[in-house]
Amino acid sequence: MKNLVVSGASRGIGKAIVLHFAKAGWNVAFCSRNVDNLNHLKDACEQLNREGRFLGFQCDVSQAEEVKIFAAAAQDFLGSVDVLVNNAGIFLPGQVHAMSDEDFDSMMQTNVYSAFHLSKALIPDMKKYRVGHIFNMSSIAGLIAYPNGGAYNVSKHALTGYSKTLRDELKAYGIKVTGIYPGAVLTDSWAGVDLPEERFMSPEDIAQTIWDIHHLSPRTVVEDIVLRPQLGDI
Ligand SMILES: NC(=O)c1ccc[n+]([C@@H]2O[C@H](COP(=O)([O-])OP(=O)(O)OC[C@H]3O[C@@H](n4cnc5c(N)ncnc54)[C@H](OP(=O)(O)O)[C@@H]3O)[C@@H](O)[C@H]2O)c1
Repeated sequence: MKNLVVSGASRGIGKAIVLHFAKAGWNVAFCSRNVDNLNHLKDACEQLNREGRFLGFQCDVSQAEEVKIFAAAAQDFLGSVDVLVNNAGIFLPGQVHAMSDEDFDSMMQTNVYSAFHLSKALIPDMKKYRVGHIFNMSSIAGLIAYPNGGAYNVSKHALTGYSKTLRDELKAYGIKVTGIYPGAVLTDSWAGVDLPEERFMSPEDIAQTIWDIHHLSPRTVVEDIVLRPQLGDI
């Protein structure tokens, strides 16, 4: 049975990824801050796959020490990691030249440093076994600067750079790295926005994309993938 680790997985895209892989027979370790949501997701996974093993771990990924504890727990629980999805992220609107130090730090820590710390902890074993696929959940905001996107744009551009750098560093070890750049996906991130469902992609389509990209032969890696709603950006 293969093993998946996902950060920020109690809702939205992360949750859809966990459920997709769980249903397909994978073991999964996932984290977020809200324990009730973690427990509900673990129950849902167990319903989908009675043979599978699932770890829902409380962790604030903006805190480096907590990420390291989650990484160690996930490794203990799973043994080895076939796929890591650095998914956790927050969006706080504002202009980067005017936003608070706290908001800037919070987005950089949650959206960028979490991926750095979680990957860094899991990569040594991936290198040892010459196996692994790391997905970094950037955004269209990691390619272009959205108006009022502030530190979110900065953090996602940083994650894009991180992903491209990691791809280059890890190719000789047989470890794949893929940057994902979605436009609008219908999740809590868009709560309160008055637009029809058809203007958004579904979280399940992002999960399906990760699944499909991972299942190419070992000779091929999708380095970057851009996904947009059929009707374009919002
Ligand atoms: N939705 C979109 O349109 C869209 C488009 C492009 C890219 N993305 C990216 O896709 C990723 C997921 O977005 P989403 O829309 O699914 O978000 P979401 O629905 O708001 O869910 C975010 C998930 O991350 C967790 N999380 C947030 N801060 C965390 C922290 N400090 N520590 C641990 N977990 C944390 C949340 O759980 P807790 O609150 O319980 O911690 C939740 O499970 C993000 O990186 C986002 O930037 C989203």
